[in-house]
Amino acid sequence: MAQLKVVSPEQYPASAAQWLAEEIQSAIAAHGSCALCLAGGNTPRAVYEALSRIDTVDWARVDILFGDERAVSPDDAESNYRMVGESLLLRLPVAPLGVHRMEAERADAERAAADYAALLPAAIDVLVLGMGTDGHTASLFPGSPALRATRLVEPATAPVAPHRRLTITPPVIAASRRVAVLVTGAGKAAMVRSVLIDPYDPERLPAQLARDATWLLDTSAAVEFTAQQVVDRRG
Ligand code: 6PG
Repeated sequence: MAQLKVVSPEQYPASAAQWLAEEIQSAIAAHGSCALCLAGGNTPRAVYEALSRIDTVDWARVDILFGDERAVSPDDAESNYRMVGESLLLRLPVAPLGVHRMEAERADAERAAADYAALLPAAIDVLVLGMGTDGHTASLFPGSPALRATRLVEPATAPVAPHRRLTITPPVIAASRRVAVLVTGAGKAAMVRSVLIDPYDPERLPAQLARDATWLLDTSAAVEFTAQQVVDRRG
């Protein structure tokens, strides 16, 4: 069942960052390092900035991965790598254990996907996901062939530009130890409700691949359902 953490928009960046910091440190305490896989898009930006200011995180033991990337250069305004760099990496007091950029811009997308899959751990310790208004997560869009993939990373096509993407696949999400889905704003409230309440159908609602994860929501994104409905969910 989903774990819900709902706070005001004003509290959201710091609250979500604190959750991530605690899970990162928990992984480090458990086995000496943390494989942290980050989401792109816009929602995480303020959370990553807040995370960069939390001084309890031992970044020298954190290996940073990406859940998906657009087929653009790393300095492109649409690059998830650039967003993570600006909001987190360039603000850290020390270098992380590793930063593994997803090279989605490579002409041979199949080769780029295979190369990235090869560096993924058997289990990501902390996976950060977002959700689009269409219910996609990472670059797993409704009806995407990548939703049926057995490989860990797949080329994908987004309905919105930049269209060419690389994305982690359902097996990676399923194997992750802790998963947080970051969603804010009234514009996503109806989709959050569908993902958390409707019968399981990840082909239609890919974010349901994370429906039993920890959903870090602001109050605007949580207005369309009650916690009891999540508890009572069937199917
Ligand atoms: C991406 C993200 C994607 C994102 C959602 C939500 O590359 O766009 O990985 O899955 O999390 O599209 O994006 P926003 O946070 O910008 O609404």
